[in-house]
Amino acid sequence: MLNFIFKRKTPEAIQQGDKAVVRVQRFNPDVDEKPYMQEFEVPMSPETTLLDALQYIKTELDGSLTFRKSCRHAICGSCAMNVNGSNKLVCHTPLSKSLDHHGRVTIKPLPYLPIIKDMVVDRTSFWKQYLRVKPWLVPPDDIPEKEFRMSPEEVEALHNAETCIMCGACYSACSVVGMTKEYIGPHALLKSFLRVMDPRDSIPGERLADVSDTDGVYRCHTIFNCIDACPKGLNPTQAIETLRKLAQKREAWEAARRERQKHLTEPTDVKV
Ligand code: FES
Repeated sequence: MLNFIFKRKTPEAIQQGDKAVVRVQRFNPDVDEKPYMQEFEVPMSPETTLLDALQYIKTELDGSLTFRKSCRHAICGSCAMNVNGSNKLVCHTPLSKSLDHHGRVTIKPLPYLPIIKDMVVDRTSFWKQYLRVKPWLVPPDDIPEKEFRMSPEEVEALHNAETCIMCGACYSACSVVGMTKEYIGPHALLKSFLRVMDPRDSIPGERLADVSDTDGVYRCHTIFNCIDACPKGLNPTQAIETLRKLAQKREAWEAARRERQKHLTEPTDVKV
């Protein structure tokens, strides 16, 4: 147990020599019966991120600490972890703003997923559900000669969903995922929404049927954990609500889409 007193400072007030206590959950299935917490003292500056702190621990204090990271710029999604009880990208989270009044921050792996080692979790169910919604675009046979025209409303509808970086923060914050790994999950349903709303896609009816089964949109409890967890500020809950509405009028939506296919070179309005 480290023994020093820390008064929480604003990032501007941090000086050279200031330190923070980083509590990390450790678990090596080869030797440990269950996870346990370990504390490390880490130097910090106003710019130090939680990923910097973990990297300091790994290179200077304990090389066995295991975690995923790659881009360091909130793009690849590999560094999602649970920080003080909330899922975050640690490369995008300042250390100084994560400390409690004792100068400590607690970092654990994403919840509801099997732990491989320390912060590294098994994302098999995450990717399995993602593939289940056919995340790729299925274009129609009669592709227009020039380009698919899209209205500003259609672009607006797609814009948010396409900025998802597949970090898994929403998936592992979802309490339904905590109950069953059969649930498709907010990440995959957001992708399904993106494809259903895309005028270039030719199988929206099939997609709506796929997400309407017992493990799909009706399994969502609408408790907004996914919105709180998303580091990109996306709204999977709203996407799920839209899919629910469209699923209820799937035949009409399919007919409207077929009509749209006849006029692919004309922009159209999105009406949900
Ligand atoms: S390291 Fe790529 S998102 Fe954090």
